[in-house]
Amino acid sequence: MSEPLLSVEELQVRFQTYAGRVHAVNGMTFEVGRGEFFGLVGESGCGKSVTGLAILGMIPRGGAVASGRIRFHGEDLLTKSDAQMRAIRGRHIAMIFQDPAATLNPVFTIGSQIVRVIRQHTSISPEEARRRALETLDAVALPDPPRIFRAYPHELSGGMQQRVMIAMALSCGAELLIADEPTTALDVTIQAQILGLLAEIRRRQGVSILLITHNLGVVAETCDRVAVAYAGRVVEVGRVEDVLFRPVHPYTQGLLAALPRAGQAKESLLSIPGSVPDGLALPSGCAFHPRCASAVELCRSGEPALTVVGPDGHRVACHLFRREGAA
Ligand SMILES: Nc1ncnc2c1ncn2[C@@H]1O[C@H](COP(=O)(O)OP(=O)(O)OP(=O)(O)O)[C@@H](O)[C@H]1O
Ligand SMILES: [Mg+2]
Repeated sequence: MSEPLLSVEELQVRFQTYAGRVHAVNGMTFEVGRGEFFGLVGESGCGKSVTGLAILGMIPRGGAVASGRIRFHGEDLLTKSDAQMRAIRGRHIAMIFQDPAATLNPVFTIGSQIVRVIRQHTSISPEEARRRALETLDAVALPDPPRIFRAYPHELSGGMQQRVMIAMALSCGAELLIADEPTTALDVTIQAQILGLLAEIRRRQGVSILLITHNLGVVAETCDRVAVAYAGRVVEVGRVEDVLFRPVHPYTQGLLAALPRAGQAKESLLSIPGSVPDGLALPSGCAFHPRCASAVELCRSGEPALTVVGPDGHRVACHLFRREGAA
């Protein structure tokens, strides 16, 4: 791959809480290429959202980056000032969240909110900003953009609100869109439409998308490459067809085995025995070893590094593979 647009290198984020220090992100490493649709997948609490927020310089109070690098266009975002990060947010990197209603301001019209974002990041006139806002509402396939422009958030459905959030992200020409569970709150038909819209935007405008999700089915349908995270670390990364169809890490294999089949009622990622470790006290060695049926002594003592296991950057952090690879 040529120089990636975004590269997260050995990122560690900790929260200081009353209960102690929470290891929220624990050496997260992955790259998102230009124009790539990249998935970050893993069970609840594995550090997906905190990683997304760290990229934007928006880690909640009590948390801080302990080490690592986040490069965007080759520049380390962790060395930027608050003012510099404010300029990057929205203009170059935008984030959309699970609950658009919580992000939109209920007392302002959709149009005035988009115009405000555009004028924050550019020096164009109010009329020009209004024209651009209408264009982006049209680009996200909202019907009757002038009507949506005048509407208040509560007048729109959840799916339409999420389209507005995507329009807002695109209105300033962001190159990277971080979408954190953007469809989880929507019903299945609308979910598919929003994912289709993201795919289309990527195709049409060459925007890179970092999709954060716990849903492997969504990843399989939309992403080019995927990183599987466990306890704040990437355990397997590569092209979707390699990671999801030729998984090497026992955790990825477990997640896939836990996917519902036709006729099964509810999706569940919980059929791997045991539960995700508590960020307050991570297991030694490979954090997955207490749940891994194949764990050996080395897995308890040493942390495995991401190692190339196949073509196109298919990498896995697992001692078992290294043993087999070495044999
Ligand atoms: N503000 C906070 N204060 C303390 N701990 C936090 C805070 N935010 C997140 N954490 C902890 O950091 C870890 C990672 O959280 P994160 O929200 O990134 O998980 P996630 O992978 O996005 O999960 P989910 O799928 O449930 O959204 C968790 O253990 C969580 O409890
Ligand atoms: Mg999350």
